[in-house]
Amino acid sequence: MSATKLQAPRGTQDVLPEQWPERLNLERIARRVLEDAGYERIETPTFEATELFSRGVGTSTDIVQKEMFTFRDRGGRSLTLRPEGTAPIMRAYLQHGMHKLPQPVKLWYWESFFRDERTQAGRYKQFWQLGAEAIGGTDPAVDAELICLLHTILTEVGVGAIGLRIGSLGTVQTRTAYREKLIAYLRANEDSVSAEVRERIDLNPLRAFDADDAGTREVMASAPRLLDELDAADAEHFAQVRARLDAAGVGYDVDATLVRGLDYYTRTVFEFTSESLGAQSALGGGGRYDGLAEQLGGPATPGVGWAAGVERILLSAEPAPQRHAICDLYVIGESVAAFALAVEGRRAGLAVQQELAGRSLKGALKQAARLGAPHVAVVDDDEHGRIALKDTETGEQTVVPDTAAVIARVLKGRHPG
Ligand code: HAM
Repeated sequence: MSATKLQAPRGTQDVLPEQWPERLNLERIARRVLEDAGYERIETPTFEATELFSRGVGTSTDIVQKEMFTFRDRGGRSLTLRPEGTAPIMRAYLQHGMHKLPQPVKLWYWESFFRDERTQAGRYKQFWQLGAEAIGGTDPAVDAELICLLHTILTEVGVGAIGLRIGSLGTVQTRTAYREKLIAYLRANEDSVSAEVRERIDLNPLRAFDADDAGTREVMASAPRLLDELDAADAEHFAQVRARLDAAGVGYDVDATLVRGLDYYTRTVFEFTSESLGAQSALGGGGRYDGLAEQLGGPATPGVGWAAGVERILLSAEPAPQRHAICDLYVIGESVAAFALAVEGRRAGLAVQQELAGRSLKGALKQAARLGAPHVAVVDDDEHGRIALKDTETGEQTVVPDTAAVIARVLKGRHPG
């Protein structure tokens, strides 16, 4: 009886060799755009204390309530595979005393995240996010800068039909007062909303704006809007963000009902979408989180940032130009001398591949041609290890005295770059 063939768990993905050119293209564009604007790369651990997310992301969110992969270590401590990057980065900022650096501290990341969500196209249990955070600045220009940077990355990578919705959630005080008002409104209309919304009226009334059922949607169409309740300072901050997006020529829709699935947001919130994505249309989103540092036990520290789904960007982007692997030299021969030639060639900076499949000379030459190698070295298997170097373009073949001479010749004829 043969053993069952094992498969990767549902909702996880292998990133196969043919998928790397596109991923690397996106990473290269993101790195250039972000680092040119002063963002520096950061990476945090794959798992953190569970408390970081319950305090940071919020106990009433779907993420904390039902999507975290949580486990205990042998000391009984509760740990969680990171479901998002903002709380860990704020933790790192506080832990490493980054308030002593020039502010705002601008960071970017490319990491995998874990959420136990129902798998579908564009939604996985392990996925990658590209993200940026600017911590230590309240200026609306920081919010606008971040939005423009994500817009540039999405445009450069060839995402079509980009949509951008922005809103403002005000301060915690405004939100608390608004929340009471909304709860009262939902209570007054509770017979018309879905059971799910009714059950969560006190826990998370804002999520009612997200509901799909006709009854709730009708009720929410006349619900009080947070944007109308902002205090003067928040309204001005939002106006300043919009003025900068206008100046930058970045189009957007103001969405008074934009709710995000994380509790730490204050003031600006935004989401980029692409029509080409179908149901999971959110490419990336973010906002300001001026209260997060205090939630984590630190001093009041403003922050703003975004994260975008790598898989979703790639699903909606133009295919990247395929770049072929470069092979400067293909070494044929099974002797120790042939192996040494390959190693020495690599040390000299050449892209060298050795024939490892035991092909016939004809088969090996074919493989070298497939790789586009401009030079092939055939090393005799006897103790003299005579080396014949073939220029595959001209067909010219010369006997070369030793390894160093082969490398010198290949280096000389090497393609530029
Ligand atoms: P988020 O909206 O939860 O925000 O996630 C950002 C993006 O990650 C989504 O727009 C989506 O493209 C991608 N994403 C989320 N869940 C999945 C999934 N299960 N499968 C595939 N892609 C997914 C955050 O995570 C915040 N930390 C963003 C932020 C940064 N806010 C401020 N700073």
